[in-house]
Amino acid sequence: MGYRITAKEDLSPIDYFVEVEAPHVARAWKPGQFVVFILHERGERVPMSVYKAENGRVGMFIRKLGKTSMQLYYEYKPGDELWSFVGPLGKPIKIKNYGSVAFVSDAVCGQAENYATLKAMREAGNYTISVQTFEDRERVYPEKFLAREVADEYYLTTLDGSVGLKGHYLDVVKELIEKDKVDVIFAGGKLGSLAKLAELTRPYGIPTYATVRQIMVDGTGMCGSCRVLYDSEVKFACRDGPVFDAHKIDWEDAIRRNAERFAEQERLAKERYLE
Ligand code: FES
Repeated sequence: MGYRITAKEDLSPIDYFVEVEAPHVARAWKPGQFVVFILHERGERVPMSVYKAENGRVGMFIRKLGKTSMQLYYEYKPGDELWSFVGPLGKPIKIKNYGSVAFVSDAVCGQAENYATLKAMREAGNYTISVQTFEDRERVYPEKFLAREVADEYYLTTLDGSVGLKGHYLDVVKELIEKDKVDVIFAGGKLGSLAKLAELTRPYGIPTYATVRQIMVDGTGMCGSCRVLYDSEVKFACRDGPVFDAHKIDWEDAIRRNAERFAEQERLAKERYLE
């Protein structure tokens, strides 16, 4: 038996939302954890962040970036089934009352985590601050998919200023710190931004946790693909993370590995699919 797709919608010209019926995963999942799906018997394993896990269904935000994400977008519709859907994987975030919690994000997986994390943090009694950055007006998600509804304070920024504040979440974080408004920061999205965020918050001693999205293969700590240098030790993002203390990650190494690993294979697979 496969895993039925129950909904699929565009988020922007490049991102989309997919919801899959997987009661055992939805029941067990906690913020910070991810899932791995396989489209068909000969498909690749695709790790994905979770946006919502409710009523037996798991919702995800996906970017049309590689072969499988395109195939899912163009060839599968609600009612179709995924061959495999595994999870939850990775370690959950510690949900407790920290005081004031911010989640900042600037790419598709981070936008999903922003909602999921702040929803749980708010339920735990925190004051929640969400900052979501998009490239421009066209790429901003529909209102119902933003994290506004789980935030006590919400900021939307676009890099070109076409909607919301002009700039990046890093600019907002700087202001939040200056106004002494945040006790702990969680973040997801582009590795380069996460590296900058770690440098920004370090001098203030603000605990900062980032989802380190390394290229994963098995997702269970067996293949070594997702290794990160953490406090000078080798860790695996899938098993020991994917959320880590951002101040202890070797960001230069993480960014280099992410850019190089499987880049050529991905490019070829995508080219063949588009042919
Ligand atoms: Fe293989 Fe993490 S994906 S060790």
